[in-house]
Formats: sequence, structure tokens, C-alpha cells
Amino acid sequence: MSLQEEISKRRTFGIISHPDAGKTTLTEKLLLFGGAIQKAGAVKSSKISDHAKSDFMEIEKQRGISVATSVMGFNYRGIKINLLDTPGHQDFAEDTYRTLTAVDSVIMVIDCVKGVEIQTEKLMEVCRMRDTPVIVFINKMDREGRDPFELLDEIEEKLKINVRPLSWPIGMGKRFKGVYSLYEKALHLFEPSKRTLSDGVSIENLSDAKLDELIGETDAEMIREEVELVDGVYPEFKNRDYLDGKVAPVFFGSAVNNFGVKELLDCFIDIAPDPNPRETEERLIEPTEEKMTGFIFKIHANMDPKHRNRIAFLRVCSGQFERKKNYYHVRQNKSFRFSNVTAFMAQDKEVIDIAYPGDIIGLYDTGNMKIGDTLTEGEKGSYKGIPSFSPEIFKEVVNLDAMKSKQLDKGLRQLMDEGVAQLFTYDLGSRRVVGTVGALQFEVIQYRLKHEYGATVRFAPVSLYKACWIESSDPKKLKEFIASKQRHIAKDKEGKLVFMAENKSWMQMVEQNFPEINFHFISEF
Ligand code: G4P
Repeated sequence: MSLQEEISKRRTFGIISHPDAGKTTLTEKLLLFGGAIQKAGAVKSSKISDHAKSDFMEIEKQRGISVATSVMGFNYRGIKINLLDTPGHQDFAEDTYRTLTAVDSVIMVIDCVKGVEIQTEKLMEVCRMRDTPVIVFINKMDREGRDPFELLDEIEEKLKINVRPLSWPIGMGKRFKGVYSLYEKALHLFEPSKRTLSDGVSIENLSDAKLDELIGETDAEMIREEVELVDGVYPEFKNRDYLDGKVAPVFFGSAVNNFGVKELLDCFIDIAPDPNPRETEERLIEPTEEKMTGFIFKIHANMDPKHRNRIAFLRVCSGQFERKKNYYHVRQNKSFRFSNVTAFMAQDKEVIDIAYPGDIIGLYDTGNMKIGDTLTEGEKGSYKGIPSFSPEIFKEVVNLDAMKSKQLDKGLRQLMDEGVAQLFTYDLGSRRVVGTVGALQFEVIQYRLKHEYGATVRFAPVSLYKACWIESSDPKKLKEFIASKQRHIAKDKEGKLVFMAENKSWMQMVEQNFPEINFHFISEF
């Protein structure tokens, strides 16, 4: 098969949702359709249960599970689907954001009872930053939820994206009878808990009397009216608009009952993008280019507690990746050869010889790789776009064992390379502050520093509001600003300048007083 054919056969995507909307359930049903698993319950939830939020063992368990389900590959209708798992727990939000840099599209699950939730909004913001195409799956239609039109309005308003329903529910909750697929022009009737579904009754024209026979006159009338309204309100679906991230097609269903999932998957296969071209600092690289390029978006440590080995997850962006071939590591200006290369099929890892654009492979690493690193066949440009967001919680690292400061330095550096948290080192006094999105990470860091590096630390509370990356087109003004705010200036792990703001009102005042300085809450600008 030619490279072009391999590329057009691939779909790499992620499912995102607010916890509990049904991401794990939907994932499992997709895998069932793909034949990747045989029975429900095989995919362990990668979420941390509410009652165990601060239970450290739970975090470790989560880490173990999440490596197994980090990437799930399966085949469906001749297409190789790579589904990337994203942690739903908000403390791992950074991990999710980074994973989203490695996908070409996203399916967003929304609970029809709860509507758009806070985590959904945040995740959508990340998708919008890169114009990632999004398909929305409105789940739990077997429960009494909100009115579909109201839900669609809320999605448009809160997620700031236009929607276009491609299926429409007939009733809801106890009255839920099924969905009419506007995409296939077919009616699919709902039978709770049914494992496999019929292909649906094809109804090209809704005025067909067959509809009344199947669902009764009242519901037939209702669906006719509602579909007419949908077609009147929402412009015709154009695939281009979806691919450009301007319109999100919407499906309704019930994942746990396996309803509406096949329709979603079939349409996804048809409309979702195959591996996209991607930007490096220097140019746009097409997936069809002969030379291999790819980037690391995730690092998983502790594969085996006895050895400090890690798996670096590489997204292949162009050409073909071959085992045992030398690749150029742009940041280190060095060549590396990988003999242990794994692909992820459902929950199994298998050693592979070749991977194509869109594929995610695991490279065994002994500490050379860092999130955001690029591998090429000699070209020097790095892939762009694995941003860091300003953390929400900050704590100062206090070394409790002066004899182990080297181990501490190394441990901190490697954990930061893995993306566990962000480290800021103050210009004055070399104080080190760790910033995270959630509180769980501090426990993880403390534990791992002790057990993997032999360094004992304590985290002291510090009162900080945000870390913002600063720059200015006027070097003199920047210098003046740094001089006047020296106590609050730090560097991130790349050496980029960061202003550590103590509280919101002060931050606003500083922004007003220094209009020549640009303050960014994301590390890439
Ligand atoms: P998440 O990964 O997004 O966090 O959600 P997950 O799939 O774990 O689903 C959260 C809960 O919602 C689960 O119930 C799941 O069974 C339920 N659920 C998923 N899809 C549907 C649906 O279409 N209809 C209804 N009524 N419920 C659905 P749970 O009680 O938390 O877990 P479990 O004991 O059922 O596994």
C-alpha cells in the first residue's frame, strides 16, 4: 500500500467530556464495534472515583490503567482508528490538553441532563485554539434530560461553536423511541440494552406512512415537525465547515444502551479528517512527505519500578517510522535508534516495525525525551504547539535533605520533562516553585521524588495567583519592568521569563501600569 493510501485509511482522535458524561462507556462501545474487545466492562475507567480523590494508591492505580488505555487502536470498515484517551479528572487537565495536540479530531460527549459543564467548556477552548474538528454526542437520552433545542442553544452559546444536528431524538427518557438519522435518512428504533443493532429502517422521506406505522401517529407528527424546524434553523451540513472547526455535527444516543453509537461511528469514518499537515517552527509538513517526522506528546514513567524506564509517546506526522533506524532528535542535536517500538491495539501493546502518519507509537526511553520533542530524518525544525497553561496551585519546594540536592535537581527535571507539573525558579534567591492544575500532583511528586530519586521534600504554601509569561517588543521596557519587579520574576524550565502574580487585582494593576509588556497565560504566543 502506498503512503498516501496508508494515510487516508487512518483516523486519530480523542473523546473528551466532563467526568461522568459517558466517555468510558462510549469508548467501550466503539471498541466493541471495532471488534477490539469482546464484552462490555473490559475497558477500565481511567477516572479517579470521587471518594478516592486524595488517595495516593488510587493515583498509582490510575497511572497503571491509563498506560494500558492511553491509546487504543482498532479497525473498523477498513479504517485504522487510533483513539487517544484523555483523563477526565480535572487535576490531569494538562495531560488532556497535550493529548489533544496529537489528535486530528475530537468527539465530545455531553450528558443530556446536565448539558454543557465546566470541563467541557475548558476542553472546547483548547480545541478552538487549533480549530480541531469536533463531533458532539449527546448522551443518556434514555434519561429525562433537557429539551434538545435548548441543549443545542447552550452548546452554541457556551462552547462558541455552530452546531448542525445529524440525528434527531424521538422523545426522551421513558418516552425515548429512537433517533432519526438525518445523515443516513434512516430511522433507528431504540430497544434498551440491545447489544447489536439492526441497520435501521431507511426512510428517505419523512412523509412516508411507514413512519406512522413504526412509531405511531403522534410521534411521527412530532418528528416531522421537529426535523422541519431543524432543517429551517440550521444550515445544511457542509463537511468543509466541520473540518475547519466551524461547525460541530451533533448526534443523540445512549452509550450504555449502545444506541446511536454505530451511527456516530459510521458517520465519523466518513467525515472525520485523516492525518493533518502540521506546523513546525519553519514550515508546514504534509503527512505524505517521504521523510519521517513526529513529536512526543506524552511520557509515561515507572513502567517497571525496578528500572527507571519510561515510554515516550510519539505521534508520527509524516513519512514512515521504522524500527532500528536512526532518527534525529532536534532539541539535543543527536541521533537515536529505537529497537523497542510498540503500537497499541486495544489494550495490548505489540512490537511493531513500521508506523504511519496518525499512528501513535511508544518508544522506550531512559530519560532523553521530553514532552514536545521532535524526531526527524535530519531536518532541524521542531513541531510547534504543546503549550503550558498557567498553573492554578503553587507551592515552594523545600529540600529536607541537603545531601541529596543533586538527586532532587535531577528528579525535578525529569518529572517536569514528563509534564507532571511546571517548575518556576525565581531570579532572586533561586527559590523553586512548583505549579500544578490540581492538588493531586503534589502528592505524586513528593512520593516519586522519594521513591525514584531518594530526595525528600516538603511543599510550603505560597500565595500566588498566576504565572504569566512576559515579553515586549521594546527590550528596554522589558528590562525596566524586570528591574522594578525583580522579586516576582522567575524562569520556567525552558528559561522563559515569567511574572509571578500574587493576586488578581494586583495583576490587573500591573497590566495597566506596564502597557508595553505583554502578559500571557499560555506559554506559546
Ligand atoms: P466518564 O468516563 O465520562 O466519566 O463516564 P462513564 O462512561 O464512566 O459513565 C458515567 C456513568 O454514566 C456510568 O454510571 C455509566 O454507566 C452511565 N452512563 C453512560 N452512558 C449512559 C447512558 O446512555 N444512559 C444512562 N442512563 N447512563 C449512562 P455509573 O453508575 O457511574 O457507573 P456504572 O456502575 O454504571 O459503571
